[in-house]
Amino acid sequence: MPSFKLIALFAVVAVVALAEAYPRLVVIDDDYLQDLGWINKVRVDDKAVKRRLEDLLSSRSVSSGNQSSWLARAVQCIDLTTLAGDDCPSNVFRLCSKASFPLSNELTDSLGLHHNQLTTGAVCVYPARVADACKGLNLLNTNLPVASVATGFPTGQTDLKLRLQEIKYAVQNGAKEIDIVINRELALTGKWRDLYDELVAMRSACGDSHMKSILAVGELITLTNVNKASVVAMMAGSDFIKTSTGKETVNATLPIGLVMCRAIKEYNRKTGHKVGFKPAGGIRTSKDVLQWMILMKEELGDEYLTNVYFRIGASALLNDIERNLANRISLEYSTAEEMPLA
Ligand SMILES: *[C@@H]1O[C@H](CO)[C@@H](O)[C@H](O)[C@H]1NC(C)=O
Ligand SMILES: *[C@@H]1O[C@H](CO)[C@@H](O)[C@H](O)[C@H]1NC(C)=O
Repeated sequence: MPSFKLIALFAVVAVVALAEAYPRLVVIDDDYLQDLGWINKVRVDDKAVKRRLEDLLSSRSVSSGNQSSWLARAVQCIDLTTLAGDDCPSNVFRLCSKASFPLSNELTDSLGLHHNQLTTGAVCVYPARVADACKGLNLLNTNLPVASVATGFPTGQTDLKLRLQEIKYAVQNGAKEIDIVINRELALTGKWRDLYDELVAMRSACGDSHMKSILAVGELITLTNVNKASVVAMMAGSDFIKTSTGKETVNATLPIGLVMCRAIKEYNRKTGHKVGFKPAGGIRTSKDVLQWMILMKEELGDEYLTNVYFRIGASALLNDIERNLANRISLEYSTAEEMPLA
């Protein structure tokens, strides 16, 4: 069963990657940081994006024999998220248990994994809940990273000083990853240098924690803006670029994802740095997530299909994957049982 070996290998790689002192993915390189002139040259051809995507989705699919292993991998890339006004220690603890043991024993067995071998990529909460999440994961004896949103999530509509303080507060409480929101006004008025300066200050406030920059693509109007914001966020040292907060009226879409993946590829070609990608907002079904994974694989390659470089912001998706895996497995069992009669 090669696919099981693949998952096991992936699990080992993921655990090793997390066990190391949370290495930064991106090291800031001054030469490129000063090259904001690049931003002015960026243009996105909307029609070409549409064509490439149609081509991709019509020519690539995950064969049904591979879907279980792809879905197990998707689970490992989920930032299991709760961002609600009534979050409290008990529901955050439930989230932590779910993230630590996302699939039932029966499902992990049938995937050829031990129960404690498969976890989600992280849990993601509001700053005030970071301490609860760290405590919960500690009790559960799992060393998943806690991600915190910050900088006046979801809108970012507050003073920069307060936004930076919020990052520090989350880091002090134990957040290893900070999902910041960009200042949309600066992006929409083309003040890329100011946006860059804010992001550099945020990057510095994150210290050793990773910075995931939410572009809030649903509010950026054009694909060209999405591309420019992606480049500025990467230049400022983001470890990940992320599509949406899940609170905008337009969520992550595949054309936007394609533009962001291309920006990541281009940035890698120019600087050698690998920046991760996190689609978020409205990704609810196994079918959705497989499309995002095909996009990652085809645009950026297998290396980017691990939770080191790929995260999915989601809350309901995990339930759908569980249902899907359970159906698949009962189907496989029943087919196997029927065989001798055939
Ligand atoms: C399915 O898995 C097999 C074995 O791991 C691999 O050779 C093949 O390329 C996979 N197919 C797809 C579409 O991923
Ligand atoms: C966007 O995603 C959020 C979070 O998953 C969801 O509640 C909302 O309904 C989605 N909005 C749209 C327009 O799909």
